[in-house]
Amino acid sequence: MNETDIIKLQTRYVSHEIRNHISICEMYTEILKKNLEKDGYKNNSVENALECIKKSLKIISTSLLDLKSVNNFAPQNCDFKTLSEEGARLSDAYIQGKNIKITCFIKNTAQIYVDENKFLACVVNIIKNAIEAIDIKGEINIIGEVKDKFAHLRISNNGKMISKEKQKEIFEEGYTTKQTGSGLGLHICKSNLQAQNAELKLNKSTKSVTEFEITIPVV
Ligand SMILES: Nc1ncnc2c1ncn2[C@@H]1O[C@H](COP(=O)(O)OP(=O)(O)OP(=O)(O)O)[C@@H](O)[C@H]1O
Ligand SMILES: [Mg+2]
Repeated sequence: MNETDIIKLQTRYVSHEIRNHISICEMYTEILKKNLEKDGYKNNSVENALECIKKSLKIISTSLLDLKSVNNFAPQNCDFKTLSEEGARLSDAYIQGKNIKITCFIKNTAQIYVDENKFLACVVNIIKNAIEAIDIKGEINIIGEVKDKFAHLRISNNGKMISKEKQKEIFEEGYTTKQTGSGLGLHICKSNLQAQNAELKLNKSTKSVTEFEITIPVV
């Protein structure tokens, strides 16, 4: 067996093992939810955390399917506002230990035809970057708007800026300025969105604000 075949086989094994453990996590999330309901325990933060864990597990599962085939998209009509708000909710977990205020305001809504999990993964990647750009204290604004048959989602933060020269490189595979970064986030976002007729661009990066924008046609 050559090295490529070994890696292919390894990929299938690893993916199989990950999937086994995802299903354990999914089952225990359900068990926890049911037990809390049974005991009459009401806590919004715990309920939100369980919903986010469930959704994240779903996103991991669909990502693993990408190892089986290319162009593994399952598009359907989705509500732009619901998806954007869900992306913001999922990303909240990355704030841990920082003083960051995230404001999400989706002005109006429409249906967009996307793979829900892949779209969410993109929104999460962009918000995660925005959080990582802020050292300790800052603000992130997520503004959504449907205008002229397109939905626009603008995600901005007041963290460290991307220099003019580097702005051309950020979408390249492997480009990172982070010690533990892989430089894949924006590259994956851009290609996943492009495959769904959507666009991702950096609107601006200055000392006061860095803003990314997703533009996607409405149904
Ligand atoms: N909101 C942002 N503010 C400032 N710099 C950013 C922002 N988003 C991206 N960048 C820059 O672009 C680079 C590439 O981002 P990308 O998400 O592709 O990779 P990464 O975050 O470094 O690693 P990972 O693969 O874990 O996402 C980052 O390392 C950072 O330098
Ligand atoms: Mg990133």
